[in-house]
Amino acid sequence: MKKVVVGITGASGSIYAQRLVDILCGLDVHVHLVLSRHAMKVIPHELQPLSFKAGKDLKHEVLRYFHGEQIDFHGWQDFTASIASGSYITDGMVVCPCTAGTLGRIANGVSTSLIDRAADVCLKERRKLILVLREKPYSEVMIENMLKLTRSGGIILPASPSFYHKPDTIRDLVDSVVARILDHLGLESELKVRWELDR
Ligand SMILES: Cc1cc2nc3c(=O)[nH]c(=O)nc-3n(C[C@H](O)[C@H](O)[C@H](O)COP(=O)(O)O)c2cc1C
Repeated sequence: MKKVVVGITGASGSIYAQRLVDILCGLDVHVHLVLSRHAMKVIPHELQPLSFKAGKDLKHEVLRYFHGEQIDFHGWQDFTASIASGSYITDGMVVCPCTAGTLGRIANGVSTSLIDRAADVCLKERRKLILVLREKPYSEVMIENMLKLTRSGGIILPASPSFYHKPDTIRDLVDSVVARILDHLGLESELKVRWELDR
């Protein structure tokens, strides 16, 4: 079974993460899921409201957006988690969506959360690291950080949907980004979002 780390940060675009995790679970991938403190706050504003269960905390409620038996949830500050160590082998990591702040911390080796640390591990162990950056416009600092990250072996895969598959729904747009993430993870899916010129 493949193992992929998914870090979700407080950028807009929680729907990309939800779809990615759903598809990874459908492909029988073991998902190590970490949500940043700020992701917990942004997600309820963006995803369809869930019925609130009295007595449950925010973390418990937010995690209900992600289902799959093979999901391991890790706390954002849990540096004892398996994925904080290079000795725990994974098939890579996706930060989706990725804030400019998390990009900056990873690109500069400033590891203040489990997402940053797990990303550092991928870079030092030369494993696949994909940052689905979501911001606009970009400052010079962000562009420099993207270059640093790229030079360190990471991949900046911006949350920029494509339109050549003639999307009808938001799901179609989301899938055009998720399909590219899966390509870079080396995973085959049913998503049909490829450019093919009709002849
Ligand atoms: C509704 C909302 C949307 C946000 N969208 C973005 C975004 O798209 N990109 C970004 O870099 N920051 C965005 N932010 C700001 C980040 O959440 C904030 O910088 C936070 O400190 C990021 O922390 P994290 O990287 O640890 O998740 C948004 C904040 C809110 C409340």
